[in-house]
Order: sequence, then structure tokens, then C-alpha cells
Amino acid sequence: MRVVHSPHEVYALVDFERRNGNRVGLVPTMGALHAGHISLVQQAKLQSDIVATTIFVNPTQFGPKEDFSKYPRTLESDLEKLDSVGCDIVFVPNSEQVYAPEHSTYVEPPKVANRWEGEIRPGHYRGVTTIVLKLFMMVPAQVAFFGRKDYQQVAVIRAMVEDLNLPIQIVTCDTIREPDGLAMSSRNRYLNDSERSRALSLSRALKAANSMVEEGCHNVADIENEMTKILLNAPVDSIDYARIVDGDTLEPLSEVTSPAVAIIAARLGTTRLIDNSILC
Ligand code: PAF
Repeated sequence: MRVVHSPHEVYALVDFERRNGNRVGLVPTMGALHAGHISLVQQAKLQSDIVATTIFVNPTQFGPKEDFSKYPRTLESDLEKLDSVGCDIVFVPNSEQVYAPEHSTYVEPPKVANRWEGEIRPGHYRGVTTIVLKLFMMVPAQVAFFGRKDYQQVAVIRAMVEDLNLPIQIVTCDTIREPDGLAMSSRNRYLNDSERSRALSLSRALKAANSMVEEGCHNVADIENEMTKILLNAPVDSIDYARIVDGDTLEPLSEVTSPAVAIIAARLGTTRLIDNSILC
């Protein structure tokens, strides 16, 4: 496994592989790798010849009051995990190599970024689209892998790729869960025991939404009420949203019609968790 710090070096490496006829798969991450990230690398191994993972805690996608400085940084164990699953290239740039001190160019996010995370975390998706485009330029892979746990993020990246005619395929991979249902997230490590057990209400609420739809309920208000009830019973400390939305546009629905997805963001103590489930 090659660990590369320079953007020029990673570009040259990937370019070389492509010239040799290899398909390069990219897994962008912010490190603090868990089984969800590792499953992206495994999926990338299945669908490409060479896998490049990037580790970069991107400052521009964190708000001023968010957890950028305390975001977990676990490079040594990240590298061990990547090596053990056969990752070929790891790109670990430092901040100045990605954002020059005088940088002032950003990617305006697409419309699908406006609601939900976009509303609650102003500037977040501008940071995501900017870094993801920059990573696509620095690591010119043919295919990139993202987790469905960040449902809106994948929708934003797919729209950017289409709107900007970027020559890269996007593959969305399933959310990986703990045996008790908690979606894997680098932020789970912030949870104390009480918060961890109350956090299970997110996956429980999503399961309930799925069951209601399976049993024939199409009334969005009824399903959203049930999800909210489950979250408040846990209780979570606050709910940012627990909604049923159109799976493509992320606009609210009043009737469950395909594609529909249930999305939740809630806080446990100082930790904010998101989760989602495709309903139909
Ligand atoms: O999902 C993430 O970890 C980040 O948002 C990403 C896509 C690596 C961009 O920094």
C-alpha cells in the first residue's frame, strides 16, 4: 500500500494506472475509519483494479460551532485497516496542499442541497462539493464510492457530477449497522452509554416507518408522527428533522410514493446523528 501526501504524486500514480488500462476506484473519507468505510473499500476492490482512499478532514464543510478541531484523527489505525483490506493507494494531504492560504474558489452546491442538512448546516454542502471536486481532480479515478448513510450528500454529489459533466461514475453503497441497528458513524465514538442506547431510537423509528409502509400506510403525516414519537420516547435530546421525502429531489412528500425515503437528524448530548431508510 502506497501512502502519498503530495497531490502531484497521487495524480501521477493514478494517471499511470489508467494509462496501463486499470480502472481506479476512489473512496473519499475524513478518516476515523469504521466498518462502513471499510465496506466502501471492499466494494471498490470488487468494482475496480486499483483502489485509492483519501483521508482528509475537510475544514470547509464544518461550521464555526461544529466539531472540526475535535473530529477524531486516527491515522495510524486507519492505515492498518486500509492495508488489511488491500487498499492500494492512500492519499493523505495536509491542509495547505489542498487549500492554499489565499484560496477563494468554491463550488456552488446544486438545488438538492438546499433543505435538511443544507438548512441546518449553512455552508456545509459548499464545503463538500468543493472538496469532492478537488479530490476528483487530484485523484482522477473512473469511479467513486460513497455511503448511503449520508443520503443527501450522495444526492448532492450525483447532481454535481451531472451538472458539471464530470467524467466519473458514482456508486452508492449500503449503510453498515452495528448488530443492534445503530448506523456506523465516526461520531458514534462521542456517545456515552446512555446516549448510545437512546441513539438506537433512530434506527427503530426508521424500521417503524418501513413497517407502516409495508402494511399499506401511505399517509406521510401518520408515519412522521410515529417516527417522532419513537425518538421522543427514547428520548433523544432534540430532533432536527424526522421526515419522509422524495428520494430524488429530497422535497417533502404528503403521500408515500416511490421513490420515498425517511430521513432523521437528532441530537444526543452534543452529538448530532443522521440516518435514513429507503421506503419504496
Ligand atoms: O462523507 C465524508 O466523509 C465527507 O463528507 C467527504 C465526502 C469525504 C468529503 O469530505
